[in-house]
Amino acid sequence: MSPFRVTRTLPEDTTGAALRADVLSGLTSSPKTLPPKWFYDARGSELFDRITTLPEYYPTRAEREILLDRAPEIAAATGARTLVELGSGSSDKTRHLLDALVDLRAYVPVDVSGSALEQAGAALLAERPELSVHALIADFTGAFALPDAPGPRLIAFLGGTIGNLLPEERAAFLGAVRSLMAPGDALLLGTDLVKDEETLVAAYDDAAGVTAAFNKNVLTVINRELGGDFDPDDFAHAAVWDAEREWIEMRLRARTGVTVKIPAVGLAVDFAAGEELRTEVSAKFREDGVRAELAAAGLERTHWWTDRAGRFALSLSSVR
Ligand code: SAH
Ligand code: AVI
Repeated sequence: MSPFRVTRTLPEDTTGAALRADVLSGLTSSPKTLPPKWFYDARGSELFDRITTLPEYYPTRAEREILLDRAPEIAAATGARTLVELGSGSSDKTRHLLDALVDLRAYVPVDVSGSALEQAGAALLAERPELSVHALIADFTGAFALPDAPGPRLIAFLGGTIGNLLPEERAAFLGAVRSLMAPGDALLLGTDLVKDEETLVAAYDDAAGVTAAFNKNVLTVINRELGGDFDPDDFAHAAVWDAEREWIEMRLRARTGVTVKIPAVGLAVDFAAGEELRTEVSAKFREDGVRAELAAAGLERTHWWTDRAGRFALSLSSVR
């Protein structure tokens, strides 16, 4: 039997039905919003990977630095035999964990992007033919069951992706993760930290325009999946720091008044000139806030590590 399996927990049409529901509610609300998970078709996943290499986008490099320094400590503290990774994408930084987890038997990457899982799985198996990889195509904000795999389990949620959830979604998500954990399991969580506005805005509005293309890709997804007639050139990319909520918002701003038809949901959506559609929040965190959110979900933070410049943090938590 091949050691690489893919399980789709989303029935084939769930994606279409969920996209229709999100587009219908998000584009008829005021202000207009869309959830960020719809960025990640094959092109969106590829654009995200390019973002991680941009000079302005520091989170990936900062988190990699921590992983390189701390992976042996993480391995010793957890003794993990199964690594579950939520929102695994390319699984690129994960290699540092896989290298250090000496007792590892199974790797379970979980992502909505089937293309990212296929590519990452193929690359990993070429490098580590002995590793059992069981990829799950699933929405980590919904209910999903983990495959049978030996404990203790380490659940990793890297990249700062938790910041793409709204505060109430984060609380529900952490509670659901806690309920997946048995005594002895651990959660490894990546959180981007609050810092100066200039650095943050540059990270989400790079000079080469890759983040702008990533942001506009959600319009292409709606055109393809729902027969929409968005012209991405009608919209400008914007990245705005909200100092009160301590998050970056990515928005698409209509350059002129425009009406967009989306036949699959029976909508004709009017955008006034200058009107903004919020496509993503990316929350930035402080040490105390992370500890409190974990505690509220029944998790005890046992370790807190930052990169040397203090830009990004990894924390390790166990069941209380
Ligand atoms: N962990 C990687 C990738 C981060 S990009 C890193 O640190 O570089 C965010 C990833 O989460 C993407 O691969 C995207 O497809 C996935 N993702 C976003 N929302 C998701 C959701 N609701 N459920 C499952 N995967 C999701
Ligand atoms: C996946 N996530 C943590 C990224 C972030 O930084 O919030 C997504 C992203 N959006 C724009 N650039 C990168």
